[in-house]
Amino acid sequence: MSIEFPGLPYASDALEPHVSAATLGFHHGKHHKAYVDKLNAAIAGTAYDELPLEKIISTANEAADTGIYNNAAQSWNHTFLWHSMSPEGGGAPAGALADAIDTRFGDIDGFRKAFREAALGQFGSGWTWLVRTAEGLDIVSTGNADSPVINGQSPLVTLDVWEHAYYLDYQNKRDAYVDTFLEHLINWDFATQNFEAADAL
Ligand code: FE2
Repeated sequence: MSIEFPGLPYASDALEPHVSAATLGFHHGKHHKAYVDKLNAAIAGTAYDELPLEKIISTANEAADTGIYNNAAQSWNHTFLWHSMSPEGGGAPAGALADAIDTRFGDIDGFRKAFREAALGQFGSGWTWLVRTAEGLDIVSTGNADSPVINGQSPLVTLDVWEHAYYLDYQNKRDAYVDTFLEHLINWDFATQNFEAADAL
């Protein structure tokens, strides 16, 4: 059993002009695919080969199998990222998630400000996440391949702040990339699904 390299949930030019087809093509077709390919090469013939991806991440993390952990987490994170963006993204959530945003961040602008600060404050490569914890919503940043899943948090939406995610389109301007994500791309429907699924846990 090998881990599947999933297709994008939209065409590679569907996020233009905010994310170019060139960026998405490289990011998905080269970077994401390389993580999956390296993972499959590393787990072939091992006990990991029988596990679902989420279990590979937690098992490799606990066993300090760094190479397998990094490629497994990056495989998972990127699939989650594609769904965190949408050609119809941006705006604000509704319903119970909107209420939770207001409770935690004051209002949607307070959320955007906190997410922006976290994304810009992540030194080097990593990810910024809106998560649901036992206490409510939170924003966390993780370095390199790390995922909040290993800390028992339920991700609702994420943004990849590795330079490979934005350098072709925004060069060193991570702030413009983050603002574009919050204004035009963030997939609140996906976040709402994850919020409701976490509610059922
Ligand atoms: Fe990436």
